[in-house]
Order: sequence, then structure tokens, then C-alpha cells
Amino acid sequence: MDDSRDSADADRRTASADDPPTRADARELDRTDPLADLRDRFFLPEGEAYMDGNSLGLCSADAVAALDRAVEQWKTLAVRGWTDADPEWFTYGERLGDRLASLVGASGEEVVVGNSTTVNIHTLIGTFHDPDRGEKIVVNDLDFPTDHYAIRARLRAAGRDPDDALRVVESRDGRTIEEADVVAALDDDVGTVFLPSVLYRSGQLIDIERITEAAHDAGALAGFDLAHSVGVVPHDLSAAGVDFAVWCHYKYLNAGPGALAGLYVNERHFGVTPDLAGWWGHEKETQFEMRRTYTPADSAGAFQIGTPPILSAAPLDGALDVTEDAGIDALREKSLALTDFLIGLVDDRLPDCEVGTPREASRRGGHVAVEHPEAYRISEALKDRSVVVDFRPPNVVRICPSPYYVGFEDVYEVVDRLAGILADRAYERYETRGAGVT
Ligand SMILES: Cc1ncc(COP(=O)(O)O)c(C=O)c1O
Repeated sequence: MDDSRDSADADRRTASADDPPTRADARELDRTDPLADLRDRFFLPEGEAYMDGNSLGLCSADAVAALDRAVEQWKTLAVRGWTDADPEWFTYGERLGDRLASLVGASGEEVVVGNSTTVNIHTLIGTFHDPDRGEKIVVNDLDFPTDHYAIRARLRAAGRDPDDALRVVESRDGRTIEEADVVAALDDDVGTVFLPSVLYRSGQLIDIERITEAAHDAGALAGFDLAHSVGVVPHDLSAAGVDFAVWCHYKYLNAGPGALAGLYVNERHFGVTPDLAGWWGHEKETQFEMRRTYTPADSAGAFQIGTPPILSAAPLDGALDVTEDAGIDALREKSLALTDFLIGLVDDRLPDCEVGTPREASRRGGHVAVEHPEAYRISEALKDRSVVVDFRPPNVVRICPSPYYVGFEDVYEVVDRLAGILADRAYERYETRGAGVT
């Protein structure tokens, strides 16, 4: 994040603090928004304010066109599609990796599309966590659960007790993680640090550069889960020297439910044999010689496992047209303006709610955590008023104004409905959260 963006953000916040945002402000911001037309490429759920793009991004005409093309080529080319389709299916994961590279700040060889995020955590932790470097893996207590499940499974598979091998950095406030606490957790016993770029609940953006540098100083490797930032926050993984990273494409990148995931491996690690090796990660030139021994591709492509599901990968090819046309810096700028506007409105209109997301632009991802003890029932009431948000226990309504298809007046409208629900105590007409509901 550059300084000029930080100071622009500070200016905006000062303005909103002095002057509560109005609907007229929202309309003016929409009128001057350079990305205002982007939403026309999406299928917007009719009559709904969709604020859940950090859970599942919306379908675009571009994604559908790419999927239709893949289906058509399956019909006409059948097996020849592996080599003759446009783009050829044999190197689909690598080609999509080339397109994603600039979003994460890496070279094309360092990025590939394949597997799921959870599987990628399995294979990357399994490959790179080396107890000889240090027994412990540093994680944090606000992580998305799958990260811990996968890391614990790899530790068990390696014959270690996860309770012993995991060093969990505790949040001080239940919302955020202090980078200083992560740095303080690093010592000679640590082999790997694995953190999210953006915390899934509060939306805190973690300082990847600082953590990576501190990890390296301690002789450890640094890996990140970028699920909540890729496509909305620019990254510079290679320059920071990050060792490996994973992410999904079904959130901000709008590639569809369960879309194939992405991963990054720094080029200094090329040539290692992945923990979950499979023939699709074999050196491409000799893959079809069907040798018994595995030669890893000399790229992140080695971390593919089996045949990529082309029909799940194709929508990403189209969805990336939208991202590339908009530009990641413009998307980040709009996202910050939207979340800033939202935070200003929460401060002004919702005195019973707290903003659980850091206010500084450099510490904020693409969504805002609005906290209230009745967050679950409020989320239900919002859904009945055609506002799609999600609830995250214990007290968070997550609101994600995706810069791809949400406007400032949409944000104004959502807060207006939320204010109405709180003023009428309309949420009291809903059941409290039952066991097992998330
Ligand atoms: C931070 C994070 N990691 C991983 C996942 C999910 O991984 P997978 O796509 O393998 O289900 C999510 C899902 O929301 C997430 O928020």
C-alpha cells in the first residue's frame, strides 16, 4: 500500500467524521466512479443488495462465455481439446497462472491454478514445513478453520502431535492479530509461519512484508492464505520474498462456486518434490512418456496433482477479463472508498453497532465487520429485506461491498435498512441462533 493512498484514505475519513455521509454523497460518488459500468457485466440478483462477494462472487457474462466456449470445444474436439482447444486444456492451469501473476506480484512460473485451497494448504505445508529448520508452525487463533484442520492433518501424517507443534498467536481483542505478536512468536524452534492475508471475520489486512522478513530473519519460511484478498488487494509476493501462498477464486475473482484454486511458490523453491505429487505436476515435456519416476515441473506447476477439471476452471478465464479490464489498483481504490463510506455510515447511523475492522486503509481488506450482540438475528432480518450479508459467530454481520458490482448508493441503502431494523427492533421477531447453524 503506498503512502499517497494512505493519506487519501485519512483525508476521506476526516471528511466523513466531520460530515456524515448522505444519499446525495452516495449518488455523487456513483456518478464519478470510473468503475461504475463494471456491474453491467454481472448477473445481479434481482431486487437484492448483494453484499456477500467475499463468500461467493457473482456470475458475469464473461465467465459464462468462457464456460460456454469450453463446453462447445468439448462437443466439437472431444479428446483433441487437450491440445487443440483455445486455450489448450493441457496447460490450462499454467496459462491461468500467467494471467494471475500480476494480481499477486509474481512471475508466471510462480503461479498455477489447481486443486482446492484446502488441498493446496495440505501439499504446501507438507512440502515446505521442515522440522530440521524448526519444529513449530506459527498460526493465529482467528484463522479460517480449514487452515488449522489441514495443517494439523499434515503434522499428524508426519508423526507429530499438532498440539505440540502448532504455536498459536492469540488475538488481544478477539478481532485482530498484532503483527508484533507474530514477530515475538518467532524463534529458532519455528520452521514455518502460515497466516491469512486478510482475517475472514474482521477483515484485518496483515502486513505480509513485515511477517515474511521477520520469518526469514528467524530462519523460518513464510506462507499465506490470500483467500480474502486476491482480486481486491494488490500483492507483491515475489518482491516480499514470500515462500508460498494459496487462495481461492470464487470470492472477489467471481469464478464460480467451488472454482479451482490458485497457488504461488517462490522460484527459489522450484524443483522440490511436492508432498501430494501427481502426474499433472510432472515436467510437461515428458509427462506423456508415462515414466514410473516423477520429475517435478520446474515451476509452481509441480503442485498440480491430477487432471484439472476444465469446466470448473473455464469461468475463471472469463472472470479474469473483468479484473484485467478494471485493473487491480482501481479495484482496490474503489474498494477502500466503499468500505470507508460504509464505516462512516455505521459510525453515524448505527450507534449500537461497532466496526470490528481496522480503520486504517493499510490494515483493511475488502469487507467490513459490523458487530452487534444480535448479529445473527439482524442478518436474518436483513435477508428478509433483500440484503444478502453473512453472519459470522459470535457477533459479526459481514458486509462486503465488492468493487466489481456494488455502488455507493447500494451501501447507503443497506445501512438504511439496517438502521430501520435496529430502530424497530425488528430482529426480535427472529429465532435466536440454534446449535449447528453458522
Ligand atoms: C481464508 C480461507 N481459506 C480457505 C477457505 C476455503 O477453502 P476451500 O476452497 O478449500 O473450501 C476459505 C473459505 O471461505 C477461507 O475464507
